[in-house]
Amino acid sequence: MQTLHVELGDRRYPIFIGSQLDPKTLLAPYIKGQQVMIVTNTTLEQLYLSHYVHDLESLGKKVATCVLPDGEKYKNLENLNLIFDALLEAGFNRDCTVLALGGGVIGDMAGFASACFQRGVYFIQVPTTLLSQVDSSVGGKTGINHPLGKNMIGAFKQPEVVMADMAQLRTLPARELSAGLAEVIKYALLGDLEFLAWLEQHMDGLLAGDESLLAQAVYRSCAHKARIVANDEKEQGERALLNLGHTFGHAIESYLGYGKWLHGEAVATGMVMAADLSQRMGWISAEDLQRTKNIIQRAKLPISCPKIPLDEFLSYMAHDKKVLNGQLRLVLLQQLGQAVITKEFDVEKMKQVILENQAE
Ligand code: NAD
Ligand code: GLY
Repeated sequence: MQTLHVELGDRRYPIFIGSQLDPKTLLAPYIKGQQVMIVTNTTLEQLYLSHYVHDLESLGKKVATCVLPDGEKYKNLENLNLIFDALLEAGFNRDCTVLALGGGVIGDMAGFASACFQRGVYFIQVPTTLLSQVDSSVGGKTGINHPLGKNMIGAFKQPEVVMADMAQLRTLPARELSAGLAEVIKYALLGDLEFLAWLEQHMDGLLAGDESLLAQAVYRSCAHKARIVANDEKEQGERALLNLGHTFGHAIESYLGYGKWLHGEAVATGMVMAADLSQRMGWISAEDLQRTKNIIQRAKLPISCPKIPLDEFLSYMAHDKKVLNGQLRLVLLQQLGQAVITKEFDVEKMKQVILENQAE
């Protein structure tokens, strides 16, 4: 097992990464009170819930569970309320812990509930998808979707601990593994060319579920994210770089309806669009753009999106949280392996990029 820390002063917390990790020994020191609410979904309930309930009960904890329906379309206020119902029905107090057992949807919702319940209780992340292990479980962004925009309602809430167990990825559908690889590729493109070369070398092993390779990819991704979050927790600057591909991606996801395309798939095509615009701006070469497309395709991810009317695409982009004073800012590649956040881009070129990266 390897351990990383997110260095946030007295809110510093560890990320445990390995295979067949023991929740009892690893999580026990981070459960402050006696009450634990495990929030999960109907899929993970069948796979892992009883194991966690048993382990935590054997530590003498009072364990209650809240099982939500499975899917991005349930990441809304109505289902968030079910977590509050469960906490209140169980009679839980301010020293309780909310434990998220699931992917990014469960992590974001459980985290937001823990930020709001009695104005904030303890929170633990047990991410079970590759995407949540490399991205959403680290850094404290939590929230829900609104029909007019994704992740529009939320809070920053750092967990006490993150435990990422590669063995849990054995049951993850292949499409979801690929979606997680999109976020892994993101770290390489935005800040680590050596990691890009490593991914090019090991993509087949990662797709085949090699747990040692997956643990290395998770470690390297989390190390990037932990460093950025420690420097800029509330996204006043550098943290926005983690949104490479996301402004285009959110427009794709929102237009298609949450859940039709996976978040990682939309981000993958969004990264192609960001790289394409960077190339049209003369910042990266045609070879760099091709290299970006190749690694994304090798991860079995889409490099173009379905036809979306330009005005609608642009209007979804305008809802992006990086819009400041009405001005859109994009994360682009100054070089391959070096991202920047900028409002200095050519809007006509951006429109061409959107239109020309749509499938016939
Ligand atoms: P998800 O949570 O919907 O999980 C994907 C699917 O895999 C679900 O059907 C789930 O039930 C299933 N699943 C999860 N773990 C499994 C396992 N071990 N075995 C079998 N099936 C399993 O999707 P996701 O990709 O993990 O997360 C996407 C969400 O994360 C989006 O809502 C996105 O907005 C959010 N996100 C948040 C942040 C952040 O910083 N907070 C960052 C990136 C993404
Ligand atoms: N997923 C982007 C961030 O956490 O900032």
